[in-house]
Amino acid sequence: MKKLLSIMTVAVLIIGTAMSAWAIIEGTPHDVAVMRDLGAGADIERCAMCHTPHAGSGQYPLWNRAQGAPTSYTMYASPTFDMTETTLIDSANYATFNCMVCHNGVASTLVNYPGPGSVANTDYNFNSTLLVNPQTNLGSDAATMLNEHPVGFTYNPARDDENNGFRAAQAYSTSNVNKRAIIGARGPYPLYSETGNTGDYNQFECATCHAVHDTVDYPGKSMDVGRSAGTQVYFLRGDNSGSGMCIDCHVNR
Ligand code: HEC
Ligand code: HEC
Ligand code: HEC
Ligand code: HEC
Repeated sequence: MKKLLSIMTVAVLIIGTAMSAWAIIEGTPHDVAVMRDLGAGADIERCAMCHTPHAGSGQYPLWNRAQGAPTSYTMYASPTFDMTETTLIDSANYATFNCMVCHNGVASTLVNYPGPGSVANTDYNFNSTLLVNPQTNLGSDAATMLNEHPVGFTYNPARDDENNGFRAAQAYSTSNVNKRAIIGARGPYPLYSETGNTGDYNQFECATCHAVHDTVDYPGKSMDVGRSAGTQVYFLRGDNSGSGMCIDCHVNR
């Protein structure tokens, strides 16, 4: 009986943890449809600001937002950045590129508008005015990615001349053995594939640190969109109080 109880306790704990990781958009800074004054009712199509079930752009994950230019960016570079890549991010780096479709501050439209037969509706347009806080507009000029934490590169802990102590990537999924993540105390920080679900999951992207629709509430990170003092939201993958996330990866710093 005691054993059964402890198994049940563990099960409840696991379920509890899983539930706290439920992803929602409503009420977060990514509730972009509300910011566009499309209303606050239950009929509002929040997900359509980024996804469509049919006739999308062909990008993962059922991407619904179109932008002409820019199609590539100048990436972070430094004398000590060792995992550097010569290739710029492009649409295959979806977990960075898709963020930049909005966070570059350049206007974009939907591919497939809600309702019968995609009828263009300017309410779904995105432009720089929706990036109210200047820090959320990462910019679209050549220097755009030079002043951001490096992204769009192949994660390889063996390439680290300065001995940051980066962790080896680990298998992350029972259903897809290719899927890998950096598992820190506050992570996991997923790595992405540039070639669908068959290639190596070794790409370090914006979404390695950020969960775009995650509003898990834990110390150092609050889903309070009212922004009470001392709270973070930032859609982070982990609690960054005390720079905990940074040290999760840069173990020796
Ligand atoms: C602000 C843009 C945005 C909105 C709004 C949005 N998503 Fe996403 N979604 C993304 C991006 C970017 C990714 C890819 C990043 C990643 O894999 O973490 C993604 C990935 C996904 C995935 C695949 C990975 C996963 O987490 O399961 C699903 C499923 C998904 N979204 C469903 C939804 C649903 C349902 C809604 C509406 C409640 C929604 N999304 C609203 C941007 C958005
Ligand atoms: C459809 C457009 C859109 C897409 C796509 C999008 N965002 Fe955002 N994001 C926004 C808007 C709008 C805000 C609110 C900006 C503001 O308040 O200044 C925001 C805010 C944020 C914030 C700040 C949240 C806070 O607590 O202040 C983070 C972090 C963020 N986005 C990360 C990402 C990442 C990472 C991706 C890609 C995985 C992404 N976003 C994709 C529109 C988008
Ligand atoms: C190495 C982890 C990491 C990566 C990679 C990363 N971010 Fe962040 N981001 C953070 C942290 C941590 C914060 C919170 C910073 C703070 O406390 O002011 C943040 C904050 C933000 C904010 C809010 C800025 C503000 O001051 O309000 C936006 C928007 C954002 N990130 C978007 C992105 C986008 C887009 C990418 C990819 C180009 C990206 N991030 C890549 C860790 C990261
Ligand atoms: C998910 C893992 C991860 C997280 C979280 C993370 N980093 Fe990094 N960071 C890396 C990797 C990998 C590199 C590339 C190192 C290299 O190739 O030299 C890097 C590069 C950097 C660089 C540039 C190093 C150089 O030599 O030019 C700085 C600075 C940095 N990170 C600071 C931070 C800070 C500050 C935080 C917390 C806000 C943070 N990182 C969070 C993995 C991470």
